[in-house]
Amino acid sequence: AAAPAGLAAPAAIFGKGRVNSRGFDLSDAQTLARIEAAMTDPLPDAAPLSMTAATGTTRPVVNPASGAVVAQVTEADDATVARAIADARIWQAPAPDRARVLRRAADLYEENFGPLFAAMRHEAGKILPDIVGELREAVDFLRYYAAEGASVPAAPRGPIVAISPWNFPLAIFTGQIAAALMAGNAVLAKPAEQTPLVAAIAVRLLHQAGVPASALQLLPGDGATVGAALTRDPRVRGVVFTGSTETARLIARSMADHLAPGTPLIAETGGLNAMIVDSTALPEQAVRDIVAGAFRSAGQRCSALRCLYVQQDIAPHLIAMIKGAMDQLSVGDPALLSTDVGPLIDAEARQGIADYLAQVQGQVLHQLATPETGHFIAPTLIGINGIAEMQREIFGPVLHVATYRADGLDRVIADINARGFGLTFGLHSRIDSRVQHITQQVHAGNLYVNRNQIGAVVGSQPFGGEGLSGTGPKAGGPLYLPRFFASPAPQAGE
Ligand code: SER
Repeated sequence: AAAPAGLAAPAAIFGKGRVNSRGFDLSDAQTLARIEAAMTDPLPDAAPLSMTAATGTTRPVVNPASGAVVAQVTEADDATVARAIADARIWQAPAPDRARVLRRAADLYEENFGPLFAAMRHEAGKILPDIVGELREAVDFLRYYAAEGASVPAAPRGPIVAISPWNFPLAIFTGQIAAALMAGNAVLAKPAEQTPLVAAIAVRLLHQAGVPASALQLLPGDGATVGAALTRDPRVRGVVFTGSTETARLIARSMADHLAPGTPLIAETGGLNAMIVDSTALPEQAVRDIVAGAFRSAGQRCSALRCLYVQQDIAPHLIAMIKGAMDQLSVGDPALLSTDVGPLIDAEARQGIADYLAQVQGQVLHQLATPETGHFIAPTLIGINGIAEMQREIFGPVLHVATYRADGLDRVIADINARGFGLTFGLHSRIDSRVQHITQQVHAGNLYVNRNQIGAVVGSQPFGGEGLSGTGPKAGGPLYLPRFFASPAPQAGE
């Protein structure tokens, strides 16, 4: 996901001749002016959105920061879905040609950043550093899977359903599709109902790059209609899903009932992600990483920090520093470069968190002021005794903090593991043996030591969880693409 800062980092080499996207240098005035101009562009016309001539109902696309309706989208219905599956054709081109097309798509994404940026801001309410990071991640996925699959002689599975979330409407949407297409499959892509415009622009660019229309079809709509119709059609040969654990269970049940036994489900789901900060941590560094992990992207990342454990000896000091750092956050209009925390995705998301906060009102340790218009929840710090008290994943800028005694460390680890999730975990400590002990015991797909726990980089930090957090394989890693082939990819040297 997003690089921690908006500045163009030196490209990291992550394999022979492979390079991560450089992004944009936001410290360069001209670059910034170009980006700002693009962000105020009117949104692209939503009319050609339904690539499959959808015949369903119309849904307004709402800007979460202002509440304004920015587009109307005709969604797919059962008939549209059935027709799309009938029209789906595997992508016959040889692997090197498919790789070339995906690399061309990556270039087109970078060249056409304007409409992508405008759509991410208007329909997802994203702030600029997140938008820049998201384009980089999408481009990285295209180039990474192209490089991974260019010389793999394996057969495709057939029609693959890709169901993606609103929190990374470009990066995760593209990552799922890029892998499925690189394996030669036909993709039926259902974007989140809140973010169809980003998806439509991306699909247009993928088609323009050379992906055949029959190999990639966009089916806008909600999970109950389009998602359900797609995941009960026996012609489907695989499903890739990112979203809630609850929805993943529904999909798995539907697949078990209707699809051929053994049809793969690749699911990336939620987390109750923890961080432990011990008394040897550098407080300034820990606080910076806590605030980024909990409040960046308004906490709307599955990787975000939800439950912080601070060793008792340093807790008063560290919690005071966290409150001070929270006070420096600017909450509000994502159009402003000074904004750190934008809105929640929609009214329902905001209401769910507001209801939760009303229940735990007595435990609020600190809370910023909430902007009056738009779907905002201000960054909030809640005091708890431990992760066992947390009812569920709160998908927003709400951080829970607990303290622990040095002799209670193993209990903390056991409590974290007992929740059954296993996505990200953060640790701040300067004692090597403790770092080793904790990282060996905690169940998590992505472990981060002395840094924040968001923003996994494609190719260097494959991303994905275990237990209730997902099935694996990790996105942006070497095991992901082979899952989309009908036969296992041959091992090197075979
Ligand atoms: N891949 C994303 C991250 O690492 C998921 O939220 O932050």
